[in-house]
Amino acid sequence: MSTLPQPAATAGNMDWFLHDRFGMFIHWGLYAAAARHEWVKHQEEIPDEKYDKYFRHFDPDLFEPKAWARMAREAGMKYLVITAKHHEGFCLWDSAYTEYKAPNTPCGRDLLKPVVEAFHAEGLRVGFYYSLLDWHHPDFTVDPMHPMRNHPEAKQWNESRDMARYREYMRNQVRELLTQLGDIDIMWFDFSYPDVEAKGLKGKGHDDWGSEELLKLVRELRPDIIVDNRLDLPTEKADIHTPEQFQPHAWVTVNGLPVHWETCQTFSGSWGYHRDETTWKSPEQLVRMLVNTVSCGGNLLMNVGPTARGTFDQRAVDALGVYADWMNVHGRAIYGCTQSAFTPPPDCRYTQRGDRLYLHVFAWPFKHLHLPGLAGKVAYAQLLNDASEIPVFESAGKPTQEWMHPDALTIELPVKQPDVVVPVVELFLK
Ligand code: GLC
Repeated sequence: MSTLPQPAATAGNMDWFLHDRFGMFIHWGLYAAAARHEWVKHQEEIPDEKYDKYFRHFDPDLFEPKAWARMAREAGMKYLVITAKHHEGFCLWDSAYTEYKAPNTPCGRDLLKPVVEAFHAEGLRVGFYYSLLDWHHPDFTVDPMHPMRNHPEAKQWNESRDMARYREYMRNQVRELLTQLGDIDIMWFDFSYPDVEAKGLKGKGHDDWGSEELLKLVRELRPDIIVDNRLDLPTEKADIHTPEQFQPHAWVTVNGLPVHWETCQTFSGSWGYHRDETTWKSPEQLVRMLVNTVSCGGNLLMNVGPTARGTFDQRAVDALGVYADWMNVHGRAIYGCTQSAFTPPPDCRYTQRGDRLYLHVFAWPFKHLHLPGLAGKVAYAQLLNDASEIPVFESAGKPTQEWMHPDALTIELPVKQPDVVVPVVELFLK
């Protein structure tokens, strides 16, 4: 047994978040049309006049937010975080502060509000991702992350660009997002890079964003809202920490102290829709990532990058189906659960909610599993997928059978693995 990490209290309301554990991320913007990564403008150093073709042709005619929301709910996801604006600067909603928005593309309408309404209608909470970077705004200075970072006139342009005006733009937009689109429960800012410097161009951090003021505004407008940690502010200002694209194997800490955390991950190696990317994760990886995350006290925000026609492509639909099948019978080993103080046997993970301990078996053994520290503590055990009894044996220091462990509790599993991606044994603690 170990003691459980206790993150310090933060300003936002973490109750629902810590219960719900599993959310959907959506990255959707003009880059869906390029279909080769949401950083394509940066990677290929595409100037505005060339990138404009995506704006002029963006027409998601098959956009059906109710179908997105249904798939999210069926996958067991309880909340959504969607890119209101990504680094390219394009806005999905009808912002009064820019012309660079969905209503001005061929689709001719606000694409964000219908998403919020559809997800709320399915009972999911909604949060907004808002990019601090903006590769389209005329006052955003060219920096080492900017598509025009190698342009010979970049420094000259910067002389007439005014970040103070951009800061005001961001505050205006954040006010719109938090007052005109319904109840918003998460504000997910992305990202800061104050220490990056290249060719005399400097990265950006809290002074450039006006992070203190932005955060103050957010908390004023919605006191309970959850805010992430990418504003380049002191640790305690953030409600959640957001490791991405790697799997934490222990409770996440900052400066040695545990924090509330949410890891964001992709089905394949891009956030925006990427037609030719092929590193799609297997069903086993997908489910294990969710289990691993909750077994270390975190949330998982799993990303879908819809196509420029407004659909989830078949690979994403299949991946969501994997979660749907698994969560349908194993949801109670995830919701309201967190890390356990018990140490699991090899190739297994524990999640726990009060007196229910969930043993997730990643590699199905032959018959017996010995559970250290649990002798005398288990009242009943069953497979979670079908509630079939799992026999429990205790030797009390005097094993009566060769296969018994002298001081662990031993459970006897069926020889054949149940037909689920990751089987779970539900242990009722005394
Ligand atoms: C990175 C990337 C971005 C993505 C984000 C998700 O910060 O810049 O494209 O939106 O990760 O966490």
